[in-house]
Amino acid sequence: MMDWTDRHCRHLHRLLSRHALLYTEMVTAPALVRGGAVHLLDHGAAEHPVALQLGGSDPAELAEATRLGAEAGYREINLNVGCPSDRVQSGTFGAVLMKSPDLVAECCAAMRAVTDLPVTVKCRIGVDDQDPHVVLPDFIERVAASGVTRMAIHARMAWLQGLSPKENRDIPPLDYPLVHRMKEAFPALHLSVNGGIDSLDAAEAHLAAGMDGVMIGRAAYHAPAQILCAADRRIFGADTPDSTPEDAARAMMDYAEAHLAQGGRLGQITRHMLGLFTGRPGARAWRRMLSEGAHLPGAGPELIAQALAQVTEAQEAANSDCTPAANPV
Ligand SMILES: Cc1cc2nc3c(=O)[nH]c(=O)nc-3n(C[C@H](O)[C@H](O)[C@H](O)COP(=O)(O)O)c2cc1C
Repeated sequence: MMDWTDRHCRHLHRLLSRHALLYTEMVTAPALVRGGAVHLLDHGAAEHPVALQLGGSDPAELAEATRLGAEAGYREINLNVGCPSDRVQSGTFGAVLMKSPDLVAECCAAMRAVTDLPVTVKCRIGVDDQDPHVVLPDFIERVAASGVTRMAIHARMAWLQGLSPKENRDIPPLDYPLVHRMKEAFPALHLSVNGGIDSLDAAEAHLAAGMDGVMIGRAAYHAPAQILCAADRRIFGADTPDSTPEDAARAMMDYAEAHLAQGGRLGQITRHMLGLFTGRPGARAWRRMLSEGAHLPGAGPELIAQALAQVTEAQEAANSDCTPAANPV
């Protein structure tokens, strides 16, 4: 997710789940290939498995960007056919490509020709006045003919005229049954559903309905512990203890120290940690301490320790039976 799932965010999320596949922000092929912005591919080995998401619509340029992404060590190359922003529309990529399935197939074929990595597609169910019940199966069939076997489908239309990108993530209604039917129609493909999934219970329901995967965006960002701490056990069947946000917060202190030593700023990391204790006692104090303190001169990893101490204190108070209300004397 643009401006959200940068390398610091992915480092945090990887501490919470070993098995969830993480995605980069969308990187445009023109920026990489024509602009030479290969620093956009920077990431840490600890983040893997990570998929690189590319935006573009020129097969040769996407092929070259794929080659660069593979060389940089990514585990999957994903083509964005879902982003509705104006900037992206002007470059003829993102969701508007739902109108050009043959071009998407051509792009994917060119990308597959330069790598053995999985080349995957993230799409919408349709755009503008398209009928998703007609367009989506046709799109999937044509793209799959290029050899793509994995797709993630954001289960709502994108209305490219008149809605902001943010509105396009909320206003067009979700159509999960249509996405579930795509799995029935294309049983050999690995299909994931995306859009509005905000708990592991909901994710499990989609898997029980036959989907191969579930992609979670905003909920994983805003409440990462709620989505990721039990994901390895509940979704991937791992026989390991659930991770905890406390352990992740402590590990992020070391990570932050290394980042600061390289000239980075604490706020670049802590901005992704604000939701770590969402739903837990002390969540507000945690959020406030990090957001107010991280930008002060000299702020360092000890800020995370101080905020964590507040959470621990709030948790102990919540666990204690000795509060005045519970034990009036
Ligand atoms: C701030 C933000 C940036 C996003 N950037 C991308 C992006 O770069 N590529 C992409 O495929 N989707 C992007 N999305 C869309 C999400 O991946 C996802 O499809 C959408 O939010 C619906 O899923 P959710 O309800 O689980 O968040 C972005 C969403 C948000 C909120």
